[in-house]
Amino acid sequence: MRNGLHVQCNIRPLAVAVLCASALCLAPACSAIDAQVGDLVADCSDADSAPGATVSFKDQIRPLFSGLAPGVKGCNTCHYPGVGTQAGLAQSGLDLSSLGALRKGGRVTGDAIVVPGRPCSSGIVKKLRGVAPGARMPKDGPFWTPEQIQLVKDWIAEGARGEATE
Ligand code: HEC
Repeated sequence: MRNGLHVQCNIRPLAVAVLCASALCLAPACSAIDAQVGDLVADCSDADSAPGATVSFKDQIRPLFSGLAPGVKGCNTCHYPGVGTQAGLAQSGLDLSSLGALRKGGRVTGDAIVVPGRPCSSGIVKKLRGVAPGARMPKDGPFWTPEQIQLVKDWIAEGARGEATE
């Protein structure tokens, strides 16, 4: 009994010291991460970067999603249940193989996946920029260039138009 008490007394200061040390170490790391995410959120503009031109879903956006555009990792291996190369996956319930299916969104984004006129509030843009919960897309990278993401943002800023079958 005496021995037990003795051990407890010795452990307590040690535990306090460890807790304090980890809090001190973690605090700066957390604020650095907060600042980074804050920058990314603040850094988003809903404005169309090229108001004179119209972005075509079929010709410019779809090849990025389908992985057919050269030098870009598409979404087809994980979000193309109909024609997927890997047993037709629709990860998180999301099917990007047609514009109609895309507009339904996934389990988390729902129809907020594309909010016409508001790219920064659109779930798909948040996932591409890495400011949504879960993994940045395309999962495991390589991630899209700012220009490729801007194309999707411009398409949404212009009203996210296109036929459901595209
Ligand atoms: C290697 C597989 C893989 C690839 C490639 C991939 N995703 Fe995903 N995606 C996932 C998984 C797994 C989830 C669910 C987990 C998460 O959100 O981190 C997900 C979730 C999502 C969601 C949220 C869906 C919801 O529940 O509402 C969006 C949006 C999304 N992906 C977009 C994309 C886009 C756009 C691309 C292509 C640029 C892409 N993904 C490429 C695996 C992938």
